[in-house]
Amino acid sequence: AAAPPGAFVIFGGGGDLTKRLLMPAIYNLACNGLINEDFRIIVVDWAEMTDEGLIQQFRDFIGDFVSKRGTNATELRQDVWDRLTANISYLRGSFEEDSTYEALKEKVEARNAVFYLAVAAKFFGTIVDHLGTSGLAKEEDGVYRRVIIEKPFGSDLESARALNARLLHSLDESQIYRIDHYLGKETVQNIMALRFSNGIFEPLWNRQNIDHVQITAAETVGVEKRGRFYEGTGAIRDMVPNHLMQLLTMTAMEAPASFDADAVRDEKAKVLSVIQPVKLSNMVRGQYVSGSFGVGEEAEALRGYREEKDIALGSQTETYVAMKLAVDNWRWAGVPFYLRTGKRLRTRRTEIAIHFKQAPFALFRDTPVEKLTPNILVLHIQPTEGVTLQFSAKVPGPSVKLGGVRMKFDYAEWFNDGPTTGYETLIYDCLIGDQTLFQRADTIEGGWRVVQPALDAEASDTAPLCFYPAGLDGPREADELLARSGRRWLALE
Ligand code: BG6
Repeated sequence: AAAPPGAFVIFGGGGDLTKRLLMPAIYNLACNGLINEDFRIIVVDWAEMTDEGLIQQFRDFIGDFVSKRGTNATELRQDVWDRLTANISYLRGSFEEDSTYEALKEKVEARNAVFYLAVAAKFFGTIVDHLGTSGLAKEEDGVYRRVIIEKPFGSDLESARALNARLLHSLDESQIYRIDHYLGKETVQNIMALRFSNGIFEPLWNRQNIDHVQITAAETVGVEKRGRFYEGTGAIRDMVPNHLMQLLTMTAMEAPASFDADAVRDEKAKVLSVIQPVKLSNMVRGQYVSGSFGVGEEAEALRGYREEKDIALGSQTETYVAMKLAVDNWRWAGVPFYLRTGKRLRTRRTEIAIHFKQAPFALFRDTPVEKLTPNILVLHIQPTEGVTLQFSAKVPGPSVKLGGVRMKFDYAEWFNDGPTTGYETLIYDCLIGDQTLFQRADTIEGGWRVVQPALDAEASDTAPLCFYPAGLDGPREADELLARSGRRWLALE
């Protein structure tokens, strides 16, 4: 059903995020009849701009988005677009001045409102303070006021705590929607569906049957134009406490009592609370040096990180991190969770691989236990979305030889549906007041707590950094992290 009427206010809405993701997502929702007829989009930003100019910018991007969509790409639906854009307006103003909020109040009037903070993190606190003092944050007469906050939420445990405390001066926790865009991905939501709506996986989902878990978020892109941001951030802050922790908690959490927002988030918080903060000896930080995609004539040469724009010559920022974490509870004791993420790797791939224990005994003379193909269940998050199960089967022929085979479920093929931006669900959920897929203060802080030792070591220059050639699999040291216990990363090719 269509969400209730209201205003959708985007602070920093002149930026990339709005064009590339928010507008296409809202448009998709509108195509599906999920946006109310009375839905106003108010963009607040500092640049000089007219309503028409803004709408034209959105139009340029949406065309591109529609044509790039998956299997059932269609032409832009002009009727939907016209209806949406009839209600877009631009408000020029500084995020730090009262007058901006006074003007905004006049536009929002007594409507429901979502305030989306698509701004640099340093403005989060100021904007929310102003929403508080201006009265815009106040919910009265059945009207809701909600705030969506992008990442990065703090830059370590202490700053995340401070920011949470600051927000809570002006807002109630029920009004705060902390985004982690990984939770908008279908395949991430599918982890719960797979685990909790099937009879065959959950009984095996424990230390008796699982040897270890590998979580990978490999990217081919380098730091691109974000050098200035990335230099002070690095792979750990950028990916681990948020995105990778979400994947980990979805994989490791207990079944919630219900799908109520707090029931789900309570379970996530519980599992986060039993993850030991990372030990430096269980972590590898890497930075890419020059390399190439492919070899020979076709090869594409790649610059090293330190040669990228806005990067210091002797930068110590990591563009790759691998770590081994322990989840200390009854279900997972002794099962390592290995995480890795990096830029400029061989392939773009995000996946969770559950490695099951080996069969206890080798019945097949020609195939000793260690040669048996291990059972691995891989949840493919992107770019191909699906699930594969690897197991052993008999190779055809007169002798009994075993080989590894794969059973595969492919999302796009089965459902014949193209990808969305991932923001549709998140925006819609916020409009209808469902916080399940948003981070709560404690889950954010829990993620930071796990990586805090790494951040401390970086701050005191005691975290070693190793190097890996761009375009390959990451640092050798990361292989050694697993080899110590006789394990191997799934190949990235
Ligand atoms: C963002 C990070 O949060 O996630 C980026 O800031 C990263 O550095 C991106 O590239 C990865 O998202 P996705 O959806 O492409 O896996």
